[in-house]
Amino acid sequence: MEKDFLWWRDGVIYQIYPRSFADSNNDGIGDLPGIISKLDYLSELGVDAIWLSPIYPSPDKDFGYDVADYFDIDPKFGTLTDFDHLLQEAHKRNIHIVMDLVLNHISDQNAWFQASKSSRDNPYRDWFIWRDNPKGKQYPPNNWQSNFGGSGWEYDKTTGQYYYHMFLIEEPDLNWRNPDVYKKMMDVFKFWLDRGVDGFRLDVFNEYFKDDQYRDNPPRLGIRPFEWQKHIYDASRPEMMGALKDIRAILDSYSERYAVGETFLATTSEEAAQYIGSDKLHTAFDFTFLTNPWNAKCFSSVITRWDRLLSDSGWPNYVLNNHDEPRSATRYAKGENDARLKVAAAMLLTLRGTPFLYYGEEIGMRDIKLKRSEILDPVGKHYWPFFIGRDGCRSPMQWDSSENAGFGKGKPWQKVHPNYLQRNVKAQSEDTDSLLNFYKKLLALRKTTPALQKGSFVLLTDRQRRLLAYLRQSKEQTVLVVLNFGHHKERLSMEPQLIGKEWQLLLSNKLYQVPEIKNGWLPIVGDEASLYIRKN
Ligand code: GLC
Ligand code: CA
Repeated sequence: MEKDFLWWRDGVIYQIYPRSFADSNNDGIGDLPGIISKLDYLSELGVDAIWLSPIYPSPDKDFGYDVADYFDIDPKFGTLTDFDHLLQEAHKRNIHIVMDLVLNHISDQNAWFQASKSSRDNPYRDWFIWRDNPKGKQYPPNNWQSNFGGSGWEYDKTTGQYYYHMFLIEEPDLNWRNPDVYKKMMDVFKFWLDRGVDGFRLDVFNEYFKDDQYRDNPPRLGIRPFEWQKHIYDASRPEMMGALKDIRAILDSYSERYAVGETFLATTSEEAAQYIGSDKLHTAFDFTFLTNPWNAKCFSSVITRWDRLLSDSGWPNYVLNNHDEPRSATRYAKGENDARLKVAAAMLLTLRGTPFLYYGEEIGMRDIKLKRSEILDPVGKHYWPFFIGRDGCRSPMQWDSSENAGFGKGKPWQKVHPNYLQRNVKAQSEDTDSLLNFYKKLLALRKTTPALQKGSFVLLTDRQRRLLAYLRQSKEQTVLVVLNFGHHKERLSMEPQLIGKEWQLLLSNKLYQVPEIKNGWLPIVGDEASLYIRKN
């Protein structure tokens, strides 16, 4: 029998970028004790799990995504004991912990890589991808590019061969075809599962395997050099499926454990969907929302496709923000106005699928603006001014109006957004109409309304630019969600089966009572987000 409430399916997952959440020892960098001190806040907000961006030892060339040791915690974040404490305190509050596993590549400071590059016959040599080019050492082994700029191959003078890195030169890719590496990767899962971790977010998992013949990628049109080729030989290779099966078997040998994959380079929901299933991942991200314009039609088409693709095999998830993309508040809101953000929140939290929130989203944090000299993200440094990098969405959490927004007393590693004096958790907690309180109400309703958790999804609006309306239906109840993407009045045609039984207003950012339905039309005001409910 399936459990009634599954945390990763029916709950809400909140991503924390640990460097930027809360700094307990005033060194300017967020840490584990800082996160522990904010667990009550997260529990009041109503989240069921937190996903922590990497907290392993790292030289921070890619801010933690260049892991130097998979089996430890970086001292700047705390110790393994702090981590166990976090697990305990989180579990006490029914908050699950999802770790970020970056198993495609590792930091060049890692001991295995240091051994591997020391000589061609070192036992660790084959743990990484070392190649020659038969035409001569002045040529890289093939045309594969690094996603962060330049060739994907770096020449090592000491041993006279190239090694492969999909990301930074300081992030060599592990050779998943080597059985010892493969076994070690599986051990990483077991290590954290045995400690009590509830799940994993798998960084670029579909990049683990590369073509065994190292064929050149064929060309295509694109903006930056990385996009000038079809990534058919350096990513998404079929061997991936076997690894997913093994990973899933490990997860399933524990109770209620979970994995969500970062589907790298996928441009369609179909690509993400193929990795989801009972002997694959529990879910994989479809990132289409992150680049959608503010247009109801674009959202409804993504939602229907994703919902249809996963109708039997899996469970959808929805995400508007993460640590790699400009914040939704920066993409969609004008100035400091949060009207649209309430509409976005109501959508994210009432769809059929697990919602992912990103720290600060609940108070509408905006991206910080940086001068070129202030850019820290290596991708921004490389591509400036064509791409300014990912620092914008990684600024310190805005807790209150005190110094450094209450993040910590030391100078924060990254600039605080100047709007923190008004935009912060404390101010919004005290304002009943704030975005934060709207998120809280939505989270609470999702938790107590079965139709919102597991109910089916029925779209009511067809290809409308400004209006998005849908039903969520369980056996006993129906919820009607009405979202106006525009600032002007709209109306929704109420089909005969929707009229008759009484609707009650569950939540609205604009209304206090159910409006009168005239001649079969439900009136809607500008920027409205309303939820109605009735018994079936
Ligand atoms: C993923 C992460 C990103 C990181 C990259 C390399 O895309 O989300 O932050 O830079 O992998 O690890
Ligand atoms: Ca600190």
